[in-house]
Amino acid sequence: MKNTVNTFREAKQKGIKLAMLTAYDYSTAKLEDEAGINGILVGDSLGNVVLGYEDTISVTMEDMIHHGAAVARGAKDSLVVVDMPFMSYQTSVYDAVVNAGRLMKEGRANAVKLEGGKEVSAQIKAITEAGIPVMAHIGLTPQSINAFGGYKVQGKSEEAAKKLLEDALAIEEAGAFSVVLECVPAKLAKLVSEKLSIPTIGIGAGAGCDGQILVYQDMLGMFSDYTPKFVKRFAEVGQVMKGAFADYIKEVQDGSYPAPEHTFKIDDDVLEKLY
Ligand code: KIV
Repeated sequence: MKNTVNTFREAKQKGIKLAMLTAYDYSTAKLEDEAGINGILVGDSLGNVVLGYEDTISVTMEDMIHHGAAVARGAKDSLVVVDMPFMSYQTSVYDAVVNAGRLMKEGRANAVKLEGGKEVSAQIKAITEAGIPVMAHIGLTPQSINAFGGYKVQGKSEEAAKKLLEDALAIEEAGAFSVVLECVPAKLAKLVSEKLSIPTIGIGAGAGCDGQILVYQDMLGMFSDYTPKFVKRFAEVGQVMKGAFADYIKEVQDGSYPAPEHTFKIDDDVLEKLY
């Protein structure tokens, strides 16, 4: 059964936890979908884990459309959410609706995600009213890394915690169907989750959220540039890949690969005519 925004709403009402992962290509999306993931985020973390940038700032609309469409082709039952890249929605409500529309039309998104609280509530309202579901994202919002001055836990002071809660309520009021809480103290995330009627999806925000999301390369041990505290490695796929690459190199070099069972035959009399 296809996960929709209604699945997300009902899960919150019934207290069923939602599981999300990122994906950026067809074959990974297909594997996650077949495993039964509720939602796949084509995150702008694409910039870090796929394109090798040091942050998400340089990711473009064309990048998100290209990878969104690939993921959508692999995701049968999962809800596909595509990130709105930096400066595709902050500039104006008009830009936000046009770009969200492109992510849905060309990137085949079922929903879009954008970063920010009250300051983008007009964008959330307009995109939602255009028939495009919006997942919001507050707490540590990586597109604002230069304003934050680094990747830090958010909402720790009384003032910051109050602002986070106000942002969450403004997002819900504006019509978002869900909100990501990134790098927020667990008790604050639990309180926000209790105050909202839309599901919270946590990343570094504790078990009190209504769902969780991780970058798939992090949870599979495939990305080692840095590992945030909240990441649990569910497998060491990076090690398995390196081992397989090394075995392949060795077998190519010693001539044991390809073996006869990996090759195609030709009749000897055909070949003889070439001599
Ligand atoms: O871009 C991304 O992968 C994200 C998740 C970390 C929530 O926004």
